[in-house]
Amino acid sequence: MAKWIEALNEADFSGSVKVVEYDYVPIAIFKLGDHYYAIDDTCSHDEASLSEGEIVEECQIECPMHGARFDIKTGKNLSFPAVVPVKSYPVKVENGVIYLELEE
Ligand code: FES
Repeated sequence: MAKWIEALNEADFSGSVKVVEYDYVPIAIFKLGDHYYAIDDTCSHDEASLSEGEIVEECQIECPMHGARFDIKTGKNLSFPAVVPVKSYPVKVENGVIYLELEE
């Protein structure tokens, strides 16, 4: 069953990415324009932190270790050496608070 979890206040969000952790799983929350997106922070190829990568082509994150790209909006792997996606999470904002929908 999924539930909405309070991740952080929008006021505490600076830059374009922030990492939160739930059950020892780091989740990267990206801000693109006025919208937030959340994906697993750990690259599906070899465990680099995607939040330390570079945002390219408006909605892609490039892994800092070997350069695989992922769609920030969906987690889909877009280039080698990553061959599987990273998990993405629904995000909503209410009253200045960013929530993630996580499986229990
Ligand atoms: S660890 Fe990300 S592409 Fe290799």
